[in-house]
Amino acid sequence: MENGNYWRGNFCLEVSPTPDILVIFGASGDLARRKLLPAIYNLFRRELLHGDSHIVGCARHDYDTASFRELLRGVLPPAEPEQLEAFLQRIHYLRGDYGDPESYRQLGAKLEELGKLDAAMPLNYTFYLATPSSLYLTIVPQLSAAGLLKEDFEGTPWRHVVMEKPFGRDTASAQELDLELHRYLKERQIYRIDHYLGKETVQNILMLRFANIIFEPIWNQHYIAKVEITAAEEIGIGRRAGYFESAGLLRDMFQNHMLEMLSMVAMEMPGEFSADAIRDEKLKLIRAIRPFPQKNLETVLVRGQYAAAGDLAGYRQEEGVAAGSTTETFVAAKLLIDNWRWRGVPFFLRSGKRLKRRLSEIAITFKAVPHSIFQPIRAQDMTPDTLVLSVQPEEGMSLTIQAKQPGPKLCMGGLMMHFNYAELAGGESFEAYERLLLDAMLGDQTLFIRSDIIAASWRLFTPVLEAWRNPECCPLELYPAGSSGPSGADRLTEWREL
Ligand code: BG6
Repeated sequence: MENGNYWRGNFCLEVSPTPDILVIFGASGDLARRKLLPAIYNLFRRELLHGDSHIVGCARHDYDTASFRELLRGVLPPAEPEQLEAFLQRIHYLRGDYGDPESYRQLGAKLEELGKLDAAMPLNYTFYLATPSSLYLTIVPQLSAAGLLKEDFEGTPWRHVVMEKPFGRDTASAQELDLELHRYLKERQIYRIDHYLGKETVQNILMLRFANIIFEPIWNQHYIAKVEITAAEEIGIGRRAGYFESAGLLRDMFQNHMLEMLSMVAMEMPGEFSADAIRDEKLKLIRAIRPFPQKNLETVLVRGQYAAAGDLAGYRQEEGVAAGSTTETFVAAKLLIDNWRWRGVPFFLRSGKRLKRRLSEIAITFKAVPHSIFQPIRAQDMTPDTLVLSVQPEEGMSLTIQAKQPGPKLCMGGLMMHFNYAELAGGESFEAYERLLLDAMLGDQTLFIRSDIIAASWRLFTPVLEAWRNPECCPLELYPAGSSGPSGADRLTEWREL
């Protein structure tokens, strides 16, 4: 089918970018160079960056505007040279020390100067903290002291701060961080990123569930047998030992990405498509997850760590990892949700590093038909109807249903209907950060995590972290690097093939 012929009717919510100065702290770092700046450039190319906008990179690295632009010439995706030059004219760089008030005075002067250049109206400021989270409580108070977080009226022009995880490391530290941040910022000014929410498939869950009539009636314990959510990575921890040793996989993937995917699949329908209506439902859902049991935790939650296999090093051999480290690089869990919709439906979640391949997906397995008229084929012999929402590497969706195989004999089996986003977009793929940056610059918090959701998710996982500290509890199961994870995970369910 020709690209474009898939769609019947196509409506867009109107997006009108506002003039904005995006200030990136940590501008010379990996995240800014690999993800943020290419994403902003793509927004510019798609005319989703207001013409009066500017980007100011701040970091300790010794660049100036000219050398920073030069650096970007090497990393931005090739496109029309004129377009690239026009974009680079909007880029500026300020070298500074995050703890030094003088740096913020200079930043303030720069923002004022840019605001006077060509903007017809006052510019909004969006501060993106692409720095280690340990610097949040250095940068935010300094911004505040320099008067850069002050809004004239509520939100006009706005001052937003975007932050990357981690937001604390347990209930108490998250609460403390939250209290501190709220001394300087209102909740509507804080944009906590979970980049999984910017992925096409994850965003599409809302349309799938709430813009179609056919799924919602069967989206419950009467028709669904189980839900499996997987985020498997082929890579190990690379050069992130310093961070990962003190985080571990539960904090790195479960408390945020996995729980966000779960809440998108399982939440009730919000009353409207608005940031707070959606986040209210997510919060209700996370609060309805049954707490993990204090006893026999290992029967519902398995932790593992990759061990050397073939050419692949084990976690303990990675640079910067302690020889006897017990940090988990794999977690599998069975969760239950105590509400009418999900009573008794198990949600199986697994995520790990150095697994067989990179695969993230949400698989919903439906119950068998109550009775088969196609005897001797019994209902339980049929491949269950399964809806798979593929998050990556391919983004798309497939539905497997029972169907007759062509031919004179009566044969039936599972038939897969399938689409993928790259095909729909003519091979182009969209980075999660494009959507998230656009939303941050539009002032739309729908895809950002609210403080009470962070608190609820830590309430769920902090008891697990505490239990793991007890040497009597829960063995750390080693699994060969490049495998499907520890065999202990199979105690929870028969997982889909990786
Ligand atoms: C990050 C984690 O949030 O997500 C990383 O800190 C992980 O450890 C990454 O590798 C996975 O993101 P993606 O988009 O590659 O699945």
